[in-house]
Amino acid sequence: MQAVQGHDEAAFARPATQDASGVLHAGEVPKNRSATGVVNRAALTARVYQPLWRRFSSTLLTRGRYPVRREVASMTAHLNPQPGDRVLDVGCGAGLYLQALHDAAPGAMVHGVDDSLAFAREAARRLAGREHVFITHASALDLPYADGVFDGLACGGTLNELQDLHAALVDMRRVLKPGAPAWFMAATRASNPAGRALQAPMRAGGLTFLTPDGWTTAIEAAGFRLKRGEQRPPLWVGLAYAA
Ligand SMILES: C[S@@+](CC[C@H](N)C(=O)[O-])C[C@H]1O[C@@H](n2cnc3c(N)ncnc32)[C@H](O)[C@@H]1O
Repeated sequence: MQAVQGHDEAAFARPATQDASGVLHAGEVPKNRSATGVVNRAALTARVYQPLWRRFSSTLLTRGRYPVRREVASMTAHLNPQPGDRVLDVGCGAGLYLQALHDAAPGAMVHGVDDSLAFAREAARRLAGREHVFITHASALDLPYADGVFDGLACGGTLNELQDLHAALVDMRRVLKPGAPAWFMAATRASNPAGRALQAPMRAGGLTFLTPDGWTTAIEAAGFRLKRGEQRPPLWVGLAYAA
């Protein structure tokens, strides 16, 4: 069990300061110049994302076969946070997973990182008043944390948006303790022409879609060992461990 001081300084590799909205800053954040990056930086996107979309997204996309509550339960069960553990949600959005992780283990140190300041602020607003929750404006491509400080990591929906997937996954592996659980979810590449046509503008807007095998290869190439891949079309869920 580790003592929590201030904003959990021990987790950081460089000094972090907190702004008035409660968001931590630990250096310059590279701007994602894609259309997706621009949309994510809008305050309106961050404000409406969870109530209008994220609360239902997995349920709707999988036509009820993989409801959001099951997705979140799978994530918390795999990470299984314990009091004193430190867990990280990469691309935390409005804080759906942060809230679930904090509910599962109020004594754990729950960190979220997002490269959209609007999303980081929205997560801070939604989780205001919860102890041991730390939200940082930073990029998955340059995580501000020290090596091997996290006991678990989640990354849901963000894999599709990363501009350098391998570099980001390598950095996620770096901040985890060896053997720590990691939970991934991503949308898969459409297998039929209509689906591919639908995904084309999203790819042009900066999103990446891989097949389930492609996600597995990417995750394992970065130093994770996949325990199980679950096909939840059009989603894919990877339950992994830091090798
Ligand atoms: C599809 S949303 C998913 C949000 C959250 N994980 C959830 O499940 O509700 C993707 C999030 O990842 C963030 N994101 C995209 N690229 C990122 C990067 N390079 N570093 C950190 N966050 C990133 C976006 O700003 C957005 O909040």
